Amino acid sequence: MNQSMETLFKESVEISSDFNEEKAIVLQLGDTLKFLGTIPDRTISLVITSPPYNIGKVYEKKVGIKEYLLQQRPVISELVRILKDDGSLCWEVGNYIDKGEVFPLDIYYYPIFKEHGLRLRNRIIWHFGHGLHASKRFSGRYETILWFSKSEAYEFNLNSVRVPSKYPGKRYFKGKRKGEPSCNPLGKNPSDIWSVIKNDWENEIWDIPNVKSNHPEKTVHPCQFPVELVERCVLALTNENDWVLDPYAGVGSALIAAIKNNRKAAGCDKEEVYVETAKKRIAGYFSGDLKLRPVGKPVFTPTGKEKVSQMPQEWGKEIQENANTG
Ligand SMILES: C[S@@+](CC[C@H](N)C(=O)[O-])C[C@H]1O[C@@H](n2cnc3c(N)ncnc32)[C@H](O)[C@@H]1O
Repeated sequence: MNQSMETLFKESVEISSDFNEEKAIVLQLGDTLKFLGTIPDRTISLVITSPPYNIGKVYEKKVGIKEYLLQQRPVISELVRILKDDGSLCWEVGNYIDKGEVFPLDIYYYPIFKEHGLRLRNRIIWHFGHGLHASKRFSGRYETILWFSKSEAYEFNLNSVRVPSKYPGKRYFKGKRKGEPSCNPLGKNPSDIWSVIKNDWENEIWDIPNVKSNHPEKTVHPCQFPVELVERCVLALTNENDWVLDPYAGVGSALIAAIKNNRKAAGCDKEEVYVETAKKRIAGYFSGDLKLRPVGKPVFTPTGKEKVSQMPQEWGKEIQENANTG
């Protein structure tokens, strides 16, 4: 825990269930619209969330896309109201699927945010290597994060989230700076395609002996954020002591990402089991027991030596040779 963090969380890990600007961690069990109504105007620096996708998960009732968006509209109005003028909103979504047809939710949400005057800064592709295998279309391997700012004056701390340059030894080959290193010593901009791992606990890499069979962060929630994904947004878009809010907090991944980086954290979820799990995870973070996937840890790539990365013998020589010749 760094020095300033000790200052923000010096008392204890008290989690308040009601929003209060004097507190540092707020988590409410209940309906998000009601909760948002208790937060004063222009308080929150970053709203980051993955709303229900309307795909029939245990915590949602699937409705038509129009009705689904109508339900989200009042929540979005409240989020814009409580967002600070230099604040940001990150909306992470995948696809809504109806009778095999794909409806990319970000496309449906974009005009709603624009009606509120928000400005899109990035449409980030969150790519992951695993998931369900489709048989009538290409398998989906990404979701998107729409990052909007409320105004032209917004926080963007690029240096906090730079990643190692691929060729740090590169030098200018002409001009006034010829011969000098051309890369930023702090690393490069991580770009708008992120490969932070998703559910590597739910897929085929289970059987690879060198990989843990469970992602260290896995809980009862069917679709939680990796904390690392939120951390990048928290670090880039807020400063210490700012408020970070997840209106659909689930098991509290966004709150943990905020607390870990010395930001105040607020959230709400309607399911008691998730709120209780979130509280345990927050307590576990402070006691040092919470397992988190280390930030920046490379996504596992098979070496080819693992049994599961080799062609089954029974597929025959022809298939094996075709694969080898590409
Ligand atoms: C996609 S999940 C978010 C998971 C979260 N990002 C995490 O890391 O755990 C959406 C969450 O929204 C919650 N939810 C859905 N409708 C809600 C409502 N009206 N009020 C509060 N929470 C709601 C669900 O219970 C679910 O946990």
